[in-house]
Amino acid sequence: MTVNTWEINVDLYGVDRKMNTNRDLSIAKSKRLDEFYTKMEDIEAELKYYRKHFERKKIFCNCDDPSYSNFWIYFKQNFNFINLKQLISTHYDREKPSYSLKFLEGMNISEDNPIRTNLEQNGDFRSPEAIRILEDSDIVVTNPPFSLFREYVAQLVKYNKKFIILGHINAVTYKEIFPLIKENKIWLGQSIHSGDREFIIPRKYRGILKNAKTDESGISTVRIKGVRWFTNLDISKRHEKLILYKHYNPEEYPKYDNYDAINVDKVADIPCDYDGVMGVPITFLDKYNPEQFEILGDSRYHDESDVANDINVLHGKILYRRLLIRRIQ
Ligand SMILES: C[S@@+](CC[C@H](N)C(=O)[O-])C[C@H]1O[C@@H](n2cnc3c(N)ncnc32)[C@H](O)[C@@H]1O
Repeated sequence: MTVNTWEINVDLYGVDRKMNTNRDLSIAKSKRLDEFYTKMEDIEAELKYYRKHFERKKIFCNCDDPSYSNFWIYFKQNFNFINLKQLISTHYDREKPSYSLKFLEGMNISEDNPIRTNLEQNGDFRSPEAIRILEDSDIVVTNPPFSLFREYVAQLVKYNKKFIILGHINAVTYKEIFPLIKENKIWLGQSIHSGDREFIIPRKYRGILKNAKTDESGISTVRIKGVRWFTNLDISKRHEKLILYKHYNPEEYPKYDNYDAINVDKVADIPCDYDGVMGVPITFLDKYNPEQFEILGDSRYHDESDVANDINVLHGKILYRRLLIRRIQ
């Protein structure tokens, strides 16, 4: 079978069933449990890499109840230090009209109350009022609802906005997101490359999420694996070269049964001297430097009849989802 990698389509099913997906995240997504509050330590660990981007900018946190959101608190506390022009946050209410809070340059951030504006709509990021604020903003920073991630990113791209948002690594295989990754319009952030992250959740989620816990002070949390920052702002990690030490040999790096690409099981084992197409784990994106590699496609593609095919078949067995990459000579 011959497939032009430049024409490979990406998965239409979203989350890859073969990946080790996080059970609580799947439950949250299917039951639309969207109240996962980001911890300050995770926000600080990422946002410190973007200070030059924030200079004189209007920040919009569009999924952030200011009374809970650490994004709002972070920007409020650092407003003068990072020299912001404006901070605005909209509170979302499922059923009734909501409000926005705003700080402007020239205000005394530590003493003045934020400007509160009642909204006619409910603060939904898709509502015309929220879109008007979006259009007037420079950078959107938040953790949007997992269940609406595709739509959320599509809107940011449509309005040509800069952003730093939290999501799940599996989102890279979504048909709406993968082309953006491939075309270097979105990349993963600087601070999270592995492990899980803890989120504060409403107490009522405790009986629903398997790994939810409540501490002595009554705060409920859950740890989620595979969380990543997604951004389109430049960061230094994107320019760091992945140091490779292994050399290609056909025994260790067999070709797929049905496609002219070698299989690489671990990112650290990418051979430094193979010039053809390589199938690598999705976590390659944590190390991706577009000056070192190009992304050609995803291991699942759709043929002329729109039938999904997997490229990553080795000795008759379909392997975990792969990204197809090539070294830039
Ligand atoms: C994952 S939580 C994160 C909250 C906050 N950004 C943080 O990181 O702590 C997503 C938030 O988006 C809100 N939300 C749900 N649907 C929304 C919508 N259509 N428009 C705006 N916000 C929404 C939820 O109420 C929830 O508070």
